[in-house]
Amino acid sequence: MKKVLITGALGQIGSELTERLRHNLGADNVIATDIREIKDAPTVSGGRFELLDVLDGERMLSLAKENGVDTIIHLASLLSAVAEAKPQVAWHLNMGGLINSLETARKLGLQHFSPSSIAAFGPSTPMDNTPQVTIQRPTTMYGVTKVAMELLGDYYFTKFGVDTRGVRFPGLISYKTLPGGGTTDYAVDIYIEALKSGHYDSFIKAGTKMDMMYMPDAIDAIVDLLNAPAENLKDRNAFNITAMSFEPEEIAASIRKEIPGFTIGYYDDPRQKIADSWPNSIDASEAKKQWGFHPKYDLDAMTKDMLKNLKKG
Ligand code: SER
Repeated sequence: MKKVLITGALGQIGSELTERLRHNLGADNVIATDIREIKDAPTVSGGRFELLDVLDGERMLSLAKENGVDTIIHLASLLSAVAEAKPQVAWHLNMGGLINSLETARKLGLQHFSPSSIAAFGPSTPMDNTPQVTIQRPTTMYGVTKVAMELLGDYYFTKFGVDTRGVRFPGLISYKTLPGGGTTDYAVDIYIEALKSGHYDSFIKAGTKMDMMYMPDAIDAIVDLLNAPAENLKDRNAFNITAMSFEPEEIAASIRKEIPGFTIGYYDDPRQKIADSWPNSIDASEAKKQWGFHPKYDLDAMTKDMLKNLKKG
């Protein structure tokens, strides 16, 4: 990975990945793209930025070709809750963007990364210590597009020899750019509200465990997987990765260590059904074995860092 094109670069993952890769590879070697432009966002003002609708395959191809990139990191996608509200739009965007990025990689011989998710599992998947290879019958449109992504990634590798790589991310927690429209977003919102009012009303119920990870570990995972020697990879796409698994009461208890009076309440919300269909905790042993995945933040370390940085902002 020497010169990279990133789609969805203004999103939650994209904005932090762009910053890291500009630092690692040099600002001229990262072409950040998004469908919108936010002039004062560091992603736009801090280096190369191009407008790109991922459904415009020709423009994607010509941007990659003209800039001589060797890697495409495809992040543009609708998250689970928005996708459930607009399933047809989600299919069109998530799959249309993916096939364009895979075709760009095939035509130009690029390395390709795209993230799958714990949403690629469903209610018939074993819920605890979920293996990497197991039953995948998701019941959300987001999950359906993620399973299709995993399969297409493997197909482009075996059929065309494209160097496709991917992980299944858990809920990602960050303070720089907020997520939008996800089911795991409660675990970001809770920190913001804890500082603002000392109380949070959660749309995810007590007792609902989901896998999570702090953004610095997620960015390390992308960089480490893309830099892993190909001969070490038995698998290509859809590595299970996770740093922690918790339910709302546990993140609330972690916040209480920093903000003693913090309280949490609950309300009914359609996102609960999505959360109930996802695993409690997944097994990341293959990622550890094959490319040295090693998250650094546990729940309390993340809580301290989130609150410290949100206070500054
Ligand atoms: N964080 C995502 C969501 O909740 C899962 O991939 O939609």
